[in-house]
Amino acid sequence: MKYRSQKIAWLFFATSLVLLVLQVLYGFIMGFAHMGYDVFHEWIPFNTARAVHTNLLVVWLLSGFMGSAYWVIPEEAGRELVSPKLALVQWASFVLVGVVAVIGFHFNWWEGRKFLEIPRPLDYLVVVNVLLFIGLVGATAWQGRRFTTTGITLLLGLVSAALLYLPGMYHFDNQVHDSYFRWWVVHLWVEGVWELIMGALLSYLLIKLTGVDREIIEKWLYVIVGITFLSGILGTGHHYYYIGAPEYWLMIGGIFSALEPLAFLGMAIFAMAMMRKGGRRHPNRCALHWTIGCAVLSFVGAGFLGMAHTLPQVNLWTHGTLVTAMHGHLAFWGAYAMIVFAMIMYTMPEMTGRNCYTGWIPEWAFLTSNIGMLAMTGAFAVAGITQVYLERKVGMDFLDVQDAVQVHFLGLVLAAALFALGIALFVWNFISFGLPADDLKDEPDQTERQPLKEAVT
Ligand code: HEM
Ligand code: HEM
Ligand SMILES: [Fe+2]
Repeated sequence: MKYRSQKIAWLFFATSLVLLVLQVLYGFIMGFAHMGYDVFHEWIPFNTARAVHTNLLVVWLLSGFMGSAYWVIPEEAGRELVSPKLALVQWASFVLVGVVAVIGFHFNWWEGRKFLEIPRPLDYLVVVNVLLFIGLVGATAWQGRRFTTTGITLLLGLVSAALLYLPGMYHFDNQVHDSYFRWWVVHLWVEGVWELIMGALLSYLLIKLTGVDREIIEKWLYVIVGITFLSGILGTGHHYYYIGAPEYWLMIGGIFSALEPLAFLGMAIFAMAMMRKGGRRHPNRCALHWTIGCAVLSFVGAGFLGMAHTLPQVNLWTHGTLVTAMHGHLAFWGAYAMIVFAMIMYTMPEMTGRNCYTGWIPEWAFLTSNIGMLAMTGAFAVAGITQVYLERKVGMDFLDVQDAVQVHFLGLVLAAALFALGIALFVWNFISFGLPADDLKDEPDQTERQPLKEAVT
């Protein structure tokens, strides 16, 4: 750890993991409900469980991004965080808003717009909180000695994500208008500005873990940012096909969203190429596994499985079915959960001074969570395709179809159990790293500064 204030990241990472565990529990509640065992229905009906599951996901990922930014920005800017105390206040208020929102959902205090369920009064608190966060990392970058492409891309991603929260806060009486602008938040986050955050963190990790020159890695980052904007902005059209928006979106949405996988493909090729060039010399192999895994699985989940239902001819049939859930799971996991895990795995040894990245626990955490998530994706796919066929082609009633696909949820729950085992091992590994230490080596690792052949082996 180069700067002491970087260790504030630990709090955000620990928060992420606690919320992830809760998210997984709510996932199981829904998995069992789909199997016909909706045992918590009286207290936690399916719609509540679903909103809690998806909002916890967003909150834990944001917490992971914030922790990563508090780690990366001081290092890239070359100075301590401007105010670690305020960062602590920002963490506490962020957790408070998240907890109040999730508790509120159980009492029907919400807005009912998928992914943007947080009620309006809490939205204002989110804005204040995020302004404080952006202020802190922004001021650190501004007062720092240097502006790197990685640091600026990360900041650009964070600031744009904050700005794009605003269209979701505007009140519309018209359902079409409301839906139209809801996608400015949901789509432009995951297929736009969050990709910048992911690209920047990927670039940071590859610089640290492969030892390849920053110049080479950051050149790729420009290309990826370019493709992301080129395809992702107009790609929003793939959500406008049949919601009451003008017909020209069929063409625009189809063409531009079909280009979106290129950005993810670019990231996968980029990460693989850098790993080969660097020859995998860094001792923290586990962090490298998560990094490369993220680049590859994000292409599979977001790029490939996104492409599978992005054309209007296909989306006409698959819209809003379990096919969407199939894609949603692997895309979020591959792109954003895995990049947060990679950051955690890379930073923990730096923060705590303990090298708990070897041995069977971190290895099996990686293997079982990823195999589990791939199997879950498969279960959702089988259920989803069957649903589309029976409900939309054959014309069976929605609930009869849900009965017909119940059996596939046994598969889902089994796969989810394997996934949950991986998460439990990861959390156990996180705990065994212990708390961040004060008396650390000044330079985390010398990979970036040393010629490759001398890099740590
Ligand atoms: C990491 C990036 C991505 C994530 C996290 C993600 C996640 C999601 C989620 C959660 C939904 C459901 C949204 C809702 O109904 O509110 C969704 C919908 C959709 N995604 Fe993605 N996605 C990503 C990238 C992509 C890409 C690159 C494509 C196209 C190539 C794509 C195509 C679609 C389509 C067409 C829908 C609408 C499905 C429907 O009509 O029900 N996604 N995505
Ligand atoms: C034990 C693990 C998990 C289980 C059993 C599970 C199960 C489920 C179920 C049953 C749904 C509702 C599908 C429906 O609408 O009928 C759902 C929704 C969702 N879950 Fe999970 N989940 C798990 C973990 C995760 C993880 C780790 C992520 C993200 C990385 C995730 C992301 C999502 C998303 C984005 C949706 C909304 C999908 C959509 O828009 O259609 N889940 N999950
Ligand atoms: Fe989208």
